[in-house]
Amino acid sequence: MKQLSKKYFIWLVFLVGYILLWGCDTDYESPVDQISLLRLETLPPVGDPTDNLSSPAKVKLGKMLFWDPILSGEKDITCATCHHPSLGYSDRLDLSIGVRGKGLGTTRIEKDSRGIPRVGRNAPTIINAAYNGLLSYHQSYDPQLAPMFWDGRRTSLESQSLGPPAAFNEMRGDAYEETLTYDSLVSRLRKIEAYADMFANAFDGDIHSVNEENIGKAIAAFERTIISRNSPYDQFVNGRKEALTVEQQQGILLFFGKANCATCHSGPMFSDYNYYNLGIGDNEKVGADLGLQQQRKFRTPTLRNITLTAPYMHNGVHKTLEDVMNYYNEGVSENPESEKIDAKIQNLKLSPEEISSIIRFMESLTDDSFDQSIPSSVPSGLPPGGH
Ligand code: HEC
Ligand code: HEC
Repeated sequence: MKQLSKKYFIWLVFLVGYILLWGCDTDYESPVDQISLLRLETLPPVGDPTDNLSSPAKVKLGKMLFWDPILSGEKDITCATCHHPSLGYSDRLDLSIGVRGKGLGTTRIEKDSRGIPRVGRNAPTIINAAYNGLLSYHQSYDPQLAPMFWDGRRTSLESQSLGPPAAFNEMRGDAYEETLTYDSLVSRLRKIEAYADMFANAFDGDIHSVNEENIGKAIAAFERTIISRNSPYDQFVNGRKEALTVEQQQGILLFFGKANCATCHSGPMFSDYNYYNLGIGDNEKVGADLGLQQQRKFRTPTLRNITLTAPYMHNGVHKTLEDVMNYYNEGVSENPESEKIDAKIQNLKLSPEEISSIIRFMESLTDDSFDQSIPSSVPSGLPPGGH
């Protein structure tokens, strides 16, 4: 009897051992192996449009224009006020504050808002805006067609950068009529010798190269140098597996799997450059924003450097990544005007641990090695960056 049970026991140990080993062999794949099946992509080197090839002279000029209050009606604000390198080339505000505001970032206030309406949207980052429209590493993209703004109403950095100086509440104020914006700015710039020289250098011309089109081209060339493509995520995809923690790797699998995020936040920019109504609530400071086609549709934003650019959404109503994740997980529209939110984000049923892995993964998309330098002076002699 004793003999029998001993034999039986040994046999059982073998059997259990075999089942365990067999189980490991076929079912267990590490997150790294599973992720390799996703064919994740990094960003290629940035491309210039054929009619605006970059040069050091152009980039330098663009940087000066980006920082020089001379481009604003009342000489008080610059592109950098709302797109500041220390604030992830955004402004940390839910909605930007333009002309006659004072301060920077979260301490910026509307000093004299009489007659100046609040800017209606959250400022997207300039970092990597050069890649807007890029859907895959292997696909070429046309910088002249790059979608700009939350509703894609402009294409290309060249065209986009001519918008803010003419916008009443962003940079123009009431110093001149909208239609006279560039006549006024060009005549201001031509009077400054250093600018006359810089434009002539950058565009191989004379004083006539100080013109509206070249202002846009120079700023765009500068923006194409504000690039960030070496985040821990990129390093991981390029083979340095220890760049991401196991939790972040699990976050990737959820992001591309159960949580459905990658159906919209896809490709190397984590955007499909498409427009959706996510049922985001109105920001009471400005009221309803109907977005693209009056359907409350907004562009899928990039998630690169997302930790640097809170608050979130087209009107900044979500303060943290936790808020965004809880919203997606609840899957119920917060806007009474849009009953449903996109079907892809209904019933996610993510656990608190899963939510936190996805957030840890999004944190791995930050790379702050982009140019953060601030010029010590600009050709107009005004304070770089404005008030
Ligand atoms: C008062 C704040 C403010 C100023 C000044 C400002 N911007 Fe913006 N910028 C914004 C906001 C807000 C948006 C989004 C507007 C929208 O989507 O309708 C934006 C959008 C952009 C975008 C589009 C990014 C994308 O991914 O869609 C670029 C590029 C940009 N700005 C560059 C500039 C440049 C260049 C200047 C200076 C010539 C400038 N901005 C001045 C607030 C500002
Ligand atoms: C149906 C397409 C779609 C899906 C699916 C989706 N998103 Fe989004 N995401 C968007 C759009 C569109 C916005 C901007 C909405 C707005 O402002 O009205 C956005 C905004 C965000 C923002 C704020 C970005 C910013 O700069 O303000 C984050 C973060 C985000 N999504 C992460 C995720 C995660 C994580 C998932 C998966 C749980 C996900 N998204 C699923 C389309 C989508």
